[in-house]
Amino acid sequence: MAPTAHVHHPVPRDFVWGTSTAAFQIEGAAREDGRGMSVWDTFCAAGKVANRDTGDVACDHYHRYPEDIALMRELGIGAYRFSVAWPRILPHGRGAANEPGLAFYDRLIDAVLEAGIEPWLCLYHWDLPQALADRGGWLTRDCAGWFADYASVVARRYGDRVKRWVTINEPSVFTLFGYGLGDSAPGVSGPAALRRATHHVNLAHGAAVDVVRAHVAGAAIGCVHSRQQCIGATDSEADTKAAALFGAHWNDAFPDPQLIGAYPALIAEDMEPYVAPGDMARICRPVDFFGINHYSPNYCQAAPWSPLGYGFGPMPAGTPKTPIDWPIVPDAFRAVLVEASRKYRLPIYVTENGMGGHDAPDATGAVNDPERIAYLDAYTGAMRAAMAEGADIRGYFVWSLTDNFEWGAGYASRFGIVHIDYETQKRTPKASFRWFAELIQATRR
Ligand code: NOJ
Repeated sequence: MAPTAHVHHPVPRDFVWGTSTAAFQIEGAAREDGRGMSVWDTFCAAGKVANRDTGDVACDHYHRYPEDIALMRELGIGAYRFSVAWPRILPHGRGAANEPGLAFYDRLIDAVLEAGIEPWLCLYHWDLPQALADRGGWLTRDCAGWFADYASVVARRYGDRVKRWVTINEPSVFTLFGYGLGDSAPGVSGPAALRRATHHVNLAHGAAVDVVRAHVAGAAIGCVHSRQQCIGATDSEADTKAAALFGAHWNDAFPDPQLIGAYPALIAEDMEPYVAPGDMARICRPVDFFGINHYSPNYCQAAPWSPLGYGFGPMPAGTPKTPIDWPIVPDAFRAVLVEASRKYRLPIYVTENGMGGHDAPDATGAVNDPERIAYLDAYTGAMRAAMAEGADIRGYFVWSLTDNFEWGAGYASRFGIVHIDYETQKRTPKASFRWFAELIQATRR
């Protein structure tokens, strides 16, 4: 029997419940219909992902999207956040558009709309075309212009049907890991690379906001930020400083220039060499919402061996954790939501929240995930507590609809509320799927 969803604080009837995914993590069909390679294809091919996993097949969503949309309909969600793969649209990153790639998202968007679900289109979820990486990628200022051109192709094609637009998913996370610490694609590291990439991604965001605004009547546009407290693993001066620096990049290096027009004080001087006159006005464009992804607080420590001098440290003894060892601290989520709402004064959508595990079917074929249900229950409860404190939260998207390619961890970390058997591509809704469906129903009564 499905566990009962607890209704903590009422949510408005038009509150948006949804699920989120990303192209590289689910689509597969990596070499089909003219798709170009991305930096993640290259990273996987180099064997840099756990178990040497790749995105070649993933969840085969490219072919099985009707089945996935049927699941979404059954779930009862009002919105679906997905991303468009830049290398499917522009196989070389720029130049001529690839019609079969464009046609795939036509089919997807039409099917989502037909299911009565609102499509939320994210332009960039980390799959930079390899051809652009070969020309310097986010390390070159030109990348902002390439991104704006790509955004223009996508906006003109889907703007008649898609009204919710996300420019970039978690800019701080992909720059920190891909260009600072070096353990995500494209595997670049060091403080200078991180700063360059940061500024160019901010410029790309600003340019894309203008492009989408120009081409899509009635568009609601925003950026999706990871927002997680960065806390010293100990209260030593070194760890406290490390946490502050980590936090300035993780939490503020993107929303502050985008929404306030300045880099956070702690890194402003470091960023100066990259900022040309007029850049802040280019970056700080009016947007309509603030997307927040949140999973856990980050415990940080000074790490002389890390290219940035800081890194993750141990969590306090006794902290509950998920099966993939992420700390479970629902009240930290409440605090982040309240803080972001006060600081940025925009309507907030929780564009990702969820729990990674190692779910497997039992002897009867059922996938029971009580830990995920407990996590989601506690975290949606914390969100409602934030709303009760005045945080202006308009929606919540579970990460993720299905298990999928979890970047460096490959397929071993499962975040789905639907289980995927990667041998057969069989989809099995987990107990958490029923729980979420019931929560959605309960809030609509
Ligand atoms: C955030 C990222 O946007 C998503 O791609 C990832 O799978 C989840 N967090 C879980 O780590």
